Amino acid sequence: MKKILVPAALLLVIACSPKLIMPAQTDVDRVSDRYPDYTLGELNKGMSLYKQYCGTCHELKMPNSKTPEEWEHIVPEMTKKANKRTMTINAEAQESILRYLVTMSQH
Ligand code: HEC
Repeated sequence: MKKILVPAALLLVIACSPKLIMPAQTDVDRVSDRYPDYTLGELNKGMSLYKQYCGTCHELKMPNSKTPEEWEHIVPEMTKKANKRTMTINAEAQESILRYLVTMSQH
């Protein structure tokens, strides 16, 4: 019984984790007014920091589940929460995560 349950549980976890859209150059182009020097490399870095820091207490939220204005509110709050829990999201990482979420929220 156990032998069947473990893979089944694993599969459920994989199936339930949200699928983040892979960033593309068109996403960078879309936010060029807001972030003039932004690059695809920076956008990808933001996504990996987001995955690293923001899925530990709850599931990763989809970037398009909030508006840019909401993300500007939520990310500093969540950074505070995370840093209370011994994580160290520095100002640069916080900005990188915010830019990723704002950019992909408009996908
Ligand atoms: C230390 C644990 C912790 C970490 C790390 C964390 N969160 Fe949260 N998050 C929470 C808790 C607890 C809630 C629910 C209560 C609340 O909204 O304050 C929440 C709620 C949220 C919500 C829903 C808020 C709403 O109003 O709908 C979003 C979106 C979110 N987190 C995004 C993030 C992002 C982005 C990061 C990474 C920067 C992050 N979280 C990291 C604990 C965490």
